Amino acid sequence: MSRLRVGVLVSGRGSNLQALIEAGKDPMYPARVVMVCANRDCAALELAKKASISREVFRLANFPDRKARDLAMGNTLRMHDVELVVCAGYDAILERVFTRQFEGRILNIHPSLLPDFAGTMDAVAMALQAGVKETGCTVHLVTDDVDQGPILAQRRVEVRPDDTVESLRERIQAEEHTLLPVVVKRLAGQPLPLTL
Ligand code: GAR
Repeated sequence: MSRLRVGVLVSGRGSNLQALIEAGKDPMYPARVVMVCANRDCAALELAKKASISREVFRLANFPDRKARDLAMGNTLRMHDVELVVCAGYDAILERVFTRQFEGRILNIHPSLLPDFAGTMDAVAMALQAGVKETGCTVHLVTDDVDQGPILAQRRVEVRPDDTVESLRERIQAEEHTLLPVVVKRLAGQPLPLTL
């Protein structure tokens, strides 16, 4: 069985990356992470190292501008024959030069029921502050409009009266960790790129 080659973009803890790595340990799972790219040193890179996955940091400071950084990152992913890119807690906006190369092949996971609380890394705190009764997580296709691409899947999470940002984030991320591998599996079974 040929497995879909996945590249993951990270900036932080890497728990969603780990969920994909774990899913890929099953030889019947139709995708595997082959490359991890980060925009800074972060814990996620250690997880990649532990799983013997190629990884590289693309620090903005090492490039003339964002476009050059994203071009280099895209070239590296292509060198690893990446067929699907997953933004898993990646906190930089991708330049057009990148999204064009991987159009219809870039996913993002976001901790809210999009279109609510879009365009932020603080969606969990914002949901709590807004006093909503329900929030969740969304996997969507990345387009040039941040967090506005077609929604592929969502999970709902109830907000409890005694929730803190941490407790709510924990329950949302528990949903993310099962949702993301399910969506990647689904995409591995259909022709890519997806049409936007
Ligand atoms: C995840 O909860 C993801 O939904 C969120 O960052 C977290 C990364 O956690 N993404 C965004 O907020 C995107 N705007 P992880 O590094 O443990 O996977």
